[in-house]
Formats: sequence, C-alpha cells, structure tokens
Amino acid sequence: MVDQVKADCGLNTVILKADPAAPADRLRQQLERAAEALRAGLLVAFPTETVYGLGGNALLPDTVKRIYRAKGRPSDNPLIVHVSKIDEINPLISRWPRLALPLARKFMPGPLTLILPKSDLVPRAVSGGMDTVAVRIPSNPVANALLRQAGVPVAAPSANLSGRPSPTLAQHVYEDLAGRISYLVDGGPCTYGVESTVLDLASGPYPRILRPGAVTFEMIKDFLNQAQLMTEPETVWGPLLANEAGLNRVLPDGEHPRAPGMKYRHYAPLAPVIILEVRQVAELAAAMPNLKTLLALLEAEQEPEDHKGRQNAGAALRPGRSRTLCALLARAEAAAWPGQLQSSDNRLWDCQVSGFAEDHSGQAAAHDLFAAFRRFDQVGAAAIVAQIQPDNSLGRAYMNRLGKAASYRVSSKGIWCKDKQLGWVQVKAGEHLPAAAGKDGSLL
Ligand code: TXA
Ligand code: MG
Repeated sequence: MVDQVKADCGLNTVILKADPAAPADRLRQQLERAAEALRAGLLVAFPTETVYGLGGNALLPDTVKRIYRAKGRPSDNPLIVHVSKIDEINPLISRWPRLALPLARKFMPGPLTLILPKSDLVPRAVSGGMDTVAVRIPSNPVANALLRQAGVPVAAPSANLSGRPSPTLAQHVYEDLAGRISYLVDGGPCTYGVESTVLDLASGPYPRILRPGAVTFEMIKDFLNQAQLMTEPETVWGPLLANEAGLNRVLPDGEHPRAPGMKYRHYAPLAPVIILEVRQVAELAAAMPNLKTLLALLEAEQEPEDHKGRQNAGAALRPGRSRTLCALLARAEAAAWPGQLQSSDNRLWDCQVSGFAEDHSGQAAAHDLFAAFRRFDQVGAAAIVAQIQPDNSLGRAYMNRLGKAASYRVSSKGIWCKDKQLGWVQVKAGEHLPAAAGKDGSLL
C-alpha cells in the first residue's frame, strides 16, 4: 500500500504505520500525528481488537457530523465513544447504574461496549438524539495508546461505508474510505474480526445484550453470579440477558434503533449470501441437491423484468457475473467441496473455497467472516455460501452477523428465503423464489 494517496473525494488520506508490539515510546512517536489530528477534529481510522474504527473527537459536533457523512450513515444510528481508561468514562455519563462499574472493571479494556445514561458533555449528534451513550475501552495496544495520547473521547463507528462488512485490515478501510478521512493508522489485522458486545445497562435494572460479541452472555452471567451482583434463576437470566430474539424485529421509520442492525443494512457483501446448515462432512452430500436448486432459482431471479422496483438488493445474483460460487467453510467441509458444481438447471458453477480452522469457540470463523466477504466480492462472486457455527462464544457472534448478511438458507431439509414481514419462509419445490428481503439486518 502506498504511504500517501491522492484520492478523488477531496482529502489526502495519509497512512501511518503503527506496530502494536513496539515499545511504548516508539509507539508514541508513531501515533503523534494521528493523536494531534484527533484533537484538532480531523477523522482518523485506527485498529482495535474487534474491527477498525473511524474516529473523530466526540466533543466536537461538527466532527461527529463528518463521521456520519464519511461513512454514509443515517444520523439516528448512534456512535460508540472510545476512551483509554475507566476514569475517562466519568465525565461522559450522568451516573453509574448498579452493575456498570463492576462490569467495567472486569471486562474493560476489551471487546465490550456499555450503554449508560449520558451526561450533557456528550453532543446529541453522538447519541442519535437518545439520552444514553455507548462507551468502550479498546484493549488493542495501538488503539489504547492513541486514545491516551489524543486525550479526548473519540466517537468511532466501524470504519466501513454504511452497510458494508466491517473492516478487519487497514486495506479494507482504505477500499471504503480513502479520500474521506485524513489519516489511516495501519496496525495490522484485528484479533477478533467481529464488533464488540453491546450491553445495555441504561434501560432498566437488568442488563440486556443488544449485540453479541467476544464478551459472551455466559461470561457476563458467570461474573455477575460469582460476584453475587445478580443471582437470578435461569428463567430470569434467559430473556433478560440473552434477549437476542428481541433484536429481530423490523423497525418502522421514525423509531430509534435500540441495537445494531435493527433498522439498517449491515455486514453486506455485494453478492447474495446463503447460510449452509451443515455441521459436518457427512451432511454435505444431503444438502447439495437443495443448494443446486437454489442456484437455479437465483439464476431465474436474474432476469431483468424480475428486478423492476424490487427492494431486494443483494438478494439476487448480480447481473453479468460469471458463475462463481465462493464458500466459507470449516476445513473438513472445505476439503470435501467440489471444484465445480452443476446447478439443477444444468449450468456449471466454478467454486472458490476458504477454509477456517475448526474450534469449539468459533474464533477462526468469526475472525475471517467479514474479510472473506470482501475477498469474495473482489473475485466477482455471483453468490456466497457460509457454513453455520455452534451457538456459543464467538460462534454466536458469527451467526448473528451471518444471519443479518444472508438472504437464503439451505440444509438437507430444504431452502428458506428471508421475507421482510414473515422472516424465514420455506421455498417449496417447483415454486419461484419470493421477493427476498435482502441483507437488511432486520431478521435473523
Ligand atoms: O467493536 C466495535 O464496537 C467497533 C469498534 C470500532 O469499537 N465499533 C462499532 O461501531 O462496531 P458501530 O457504530 O459500527 O456499531 C455500534 C452500534 C451502532 O450500530 C449503534 O446502533 C449501537 O452500537 N449503539 C451506539 N450507541 C447506542 C446507544 N446509545 N444505545 C443503543 N445502541 C447504541
Ligand atoms: Mg458498524
């Protein structure tokens, strides 16, 4: 990547290298310009342990507005404010709800965002007009040093164009935001590859997970139990802490989103995404006929007359694409995947496969999900298949993001299409595909 780029949207985006393993004083030197730029109200993208962030001084309303513009993000979708240590949260909030400080001490710095009652210091532009503020302390050494050095709270959404997959490499940020930001701090790949857990502590006595991430429901529950801060029976824990089902509602216009993905498109590659519900190689052959049928149905969708006025962007094949199917699979299934597939309408598809290491935490899968979406778009994928992961740890975060990006599901038992009103509806043999809701993030 070149060091300085003249981009077409006005700004020169300067790339600054920062080494997360460098000694503190060396890192300080590397981050000097970026810290100064943040203080001055310029936009600076930087790595965190989750994904890259698009940062700006959270106390300057004009800078905050520029963040929304650079990202192309609707201004009622609030931003997370990043600081380097717990003391720096104090001025941003009006009070610490009962569980907040113990949770902050346990999990911060790290991949957890807390929603807290906001103070008057936080501009309304940051919180999308709400009376709460999202706060986070990244543990990534580059992010943490940059925030300490800047000495101002930094509002930072993920550093992708709105609706695109979150960036996990500096290269991804560059693709989306070159010319729209002043600096890009390149600190190498992000550790987790999915965004932080968002935990709401401001809407009542009980915590609620609004977005699953690397700090899991079980970790939060075990900590609160052991610290005797909350020892509720299972019947109370379930709906209160892991109420992910509540996130799947479609929001009408005018209502503020409580959680990421409730209203706006998220995590979407250009090609339609198909969830493959196969847990092991043995199930692969049984699911293949349904996948081949779905490819044929998607081919029929591609006809131009089908597209007039449809609100299903991302749900149908991109016209003019060669038939390349890209697949993100666990290594064993990747090894068993064929080089070519014949769809049920007898068209030949080339397959390109990415294999991730299997583990019980879903960590490798989560780490590669967004990066794979971007790689697949670049090779011109006509459709993307991604295999399911177990519903625990980072596997749950993976399934949450995949569910929001996907328009179709396939298993040995059938084909499903995401309908905006009805959720997942099964497609019967011989039927046309219903108009899919596409990647709008409203359903899982
Ligand atoms: O890992 C992360 O959280 C990354 C890195 C850069 O820190 N940031 C990130 O930001 O994912 P963003 O803006 O892409 O996602 C944050 C989500 C928003 O979609 C928003 O809906 C939600 O958090 N959020 C922010 N403030 C909120 C609030 N006051 N109440 C409820 N949800 C809020
Ligand atoms: Mg985002």
